[in-house]
Amino acid sequence: MDLLQQVAAATAWLQALSFEQPRVGVVLGTGLGELTSHIKIAHSIPYNQIPHFPESTVESHKGQLILGHIGKTPVVAMQGRFHYYEGYTMQQITFPIRVMKALGVEQLLLSNAAGGMNPSFKKGDLILLEDHINMQPENPLRGLNSSAFGPRFPDMSRPYDPLLGQKLHVAADAQGVVLKSGIYVSVMGPNLETRAEYRFLRMAGADLVGMSTVPEVIVANQLKLPCAAVSVVTDECDPDNLHPVSIEEIIAVAATADKKLSNIFAAVVAEL
Ligand code: HPA
Repeated sequence: MDLLQQVAAATAWLQALSFEQPRVGVVLGTGLGELTSHIKIAHSIPYNQIPHFPESTVESHKGQLILGHIGKTPVVAMQGRFHYYEGYTMQQITFPIRVMKALGVEQLLLSNAAGGMNPSFKKGDLILLEDHINMQPENPLRGLNSSAFGPRFPDMSRPYDPLLGQKLHVAADAQGVVLKSGIYVSVMGPNLETRAEYRFLRMAGADLVGMSTVPEVIVANQLKLPCAAVSVVTDECDPDNLHPVSIEEIIAVAATADKKLSNIFAAVVAEL
């Protein structure tokens, strides 16, 4: 079965559950599951039950697809995503984005935990991605030579939808939450960076570093699916004063910002 047939099979399987066609897709990153408390849940389906979905291997990720409503807006949310460092192919980790599009999703919001390299970013800050640098070693579009997937050479001049970003800023302002902006560089991981690597990535023009999001955003752009992404700064990556950091700390810091982030996402989604 080729990728398009797999997408069709997963989509048909999900559509056989009865629910209103989702209009908004959400991908929730490491330690960032609180949005689900805003969803009136119709179905929550472990990934391993959905045909052709990879199975999440990261303990901090719940690994389920949630169908339901935020306000009147029908949504599909990924509680936990797939990462390249887990051993999947790029096409596997972006598979759910193609399924969301096939289900009828028109806009996509993503979140992630990221290291803050811009010295003005502090632990727990929320940062709207204004652009990205892709330093992952593989590309989810490699080998997809049929126009059925979308354009062969997708334009990336505006990978993040300015209107969605504007809506996130308005929602943050209304809730008295500071939403900063920054450029995200995506690396393979799973190790964190050395001091020399943080220096290098900062010099390259990035404000944040993480191990996700960019592959999904590339596929969303190929599918012409407008998207926006928000990072939670979970560690301060100052190469001149770098402290050891563990995944447990990263998850704990993400949890402290999860409510703020989820309130903003929920407010935006309810208005879409
Ligand atoms: N580097 C890479 N990925 C991350 C980091 C980091 O410092 N923090 C959270 N995810």
